[in-house]
Formats: sequence, C-alpha cells, structure tokens
Amino acid sequence: MMLKAGPSAEPLLLTADSNLEFFKYYRVNVESMGKVVAIVSSPRAKGNSMAIVNSVIDGAMGLSTNMIVLHSLHTMLIHGCNACMACKTKNCCIIEDELTNVLEDIKDADGLVISAPVYFDGPCAQYKMFEDRLFSFMAADGSIKMTPGKKVVIVVTCGGPKERGQKVCDHIADTFRMLGAEIVGTIVFSDEGGSKTADSCDDIIDQAKELGKTFRTNYREYDPHYHGPKQ
Ligand SMILES: Cc1cc2nc3c(=O)[nH]c(=O)nc-3n(C[C@H](O)[C@H](O)[C@H](O)COP(=O)(O)O)c2cc1C
Repeated sequence: MMLKAGPSAEPLLLTADSNLEFFKYYRVNVESMGKVVAIVSSPRAKGNSMAIVNSVIDGAMGLSTNMIVLHSLHTMLIHGCNACMACKTKNCCIIEDELTNVLEDIKDADGLVISAPVYFDGPCAQYKMFEDRLFSFMAADGSIKMTPGKKVVIVVTCGGPKERGQKVCDHIADTFRMLGAEIVGTIVFSDEGGSKTADSCDDIIDQAKELGKTFRTNYREYDPHYHGPKQ
C-alpha cells in the first residue's frame, strides 16, 4: 500500500515492518485516497474566500485519506490565455508559468473547490485568467479532454446583495459543468459592504465544513475494538 504525503512529496511506502500505530484504531483502505484541489483567487490572504475554502478543506479532511492541494492564484505570476490555439493540437496549454502546475494538478483531481470574489459584477481578474486557461481542456471539435465527473464546490464572495454573487456563481457552475464536472454544492457569501467577515459567521463555516464532507472518499471510522491489521 502507498501513502502520498503531499503533492510534491516522495511517496511513502508502508511495508509489513512499518509502524502502523497511526492506523491502529481506524479501518482504512488507503487505495481509495482522493485528491482535492482548491483554488483561491482572492488577493486577500485572510479574506472571506480563504476562510470559507479552509473550512471546506477541514470538512474534506476529517479523518479521511484525502490529499489536499491549495493554490492561491494571487501569489502566482500568471498569464491569461493568448488564443494561440496550440492546446487544440497539443494536449495542454503551452504557456509556461505558475499556472502550469495548477492545470496539471487539476487533471488527476477527484474534487475541486473553486472560489472567486465578485469584482465589478464579475469574478476577479485572477479567477478569469485561470478560467480562460481551462480552454486547454477543450478539444478542437468541442469535446472535453478533462476526466468527467470531478466533484466541484463553488465559493463566491461579494459585498453587495447576494444575487450579485449568485450570478457569478452560476457562471462558474456553467463553466465547470461544460467541462464535465458535477457541481456538488455552492456557497455565496456577502460581507455586506465589509461590515462582517465569513470567519465570524458560524452558519457559513458550518455549511462549508458540511460541503467539504462530500469529498471524503474513505472516512476512517473510529473503532476502539479494532487493533490494526492482523499480524
Ligand atoms: C475591486 C473590487 C470590486 C468589487 N466589486 C464588487 C461588486 O461589483 N459587487 C459586489 O457585490 N462586491 C464587490 N466587491 C466586494 C467584494 O466582492 C467583497 O468584499 C468580498 O467579500 C471580498 O471577498 P474576499 O475577502 O474573499 O476577497 C468589490 C471589491 C473590490 C476590491
């Protein structure tokens, strides 16, 4: 059996002699581990999107065996799509920048958490650059090159009435549905002109954690009578 400690970490091989103390009280099938990729496009590192996305991740982890990768687009040097159409003949976007790894990570993800704040009635520019580069998952004939059925949770934050956030959320949902993904939940949060924050809204945080549980591929059930695999 094989455990991955993180996206870039060397796989950790567990052998018969390995210390299985960690798994002692949990029934676990490591083979069914899932990968969840979270995208935060807000430039506010401690903003509403980050608080909600972190709570979705909390829910996704629990005691499950998921691997989580979080990408904060704001910290990356990324380009928008340059409409070169190379992705129609090659199998990927040929622009080489910090978004390259993000697109690569998405390929084998089972779940995605996609977030964006509303700026001028649309998603912020960082999200839009990311979204346009998803064009590389569409073939010349319009067919989709992304593995179908990825589970997606969408998080949209805004400052005005929630309907504005909902519009952006619907747009993001349409994009991912077109790419063959399944939208399993959405959260639209308004900070009401900056008068409140997501991390202080228990209902939003609880809703986010609950949605995150959708990603649990293999919840480890606590069982005090289980003492690990038979020797
Ligand atoms: C440049 C800019 C434009 C914005 N435009 C809108 C808007 O059109 N509609 C709206 O409801 N909120 C707008 N907002 C408010 C943000 O969407 C809101 O504060 C959101 O909760 C921020 O989320 P974050 O903390 O995840 O970045 C704007 C904020 C900025 C900085």
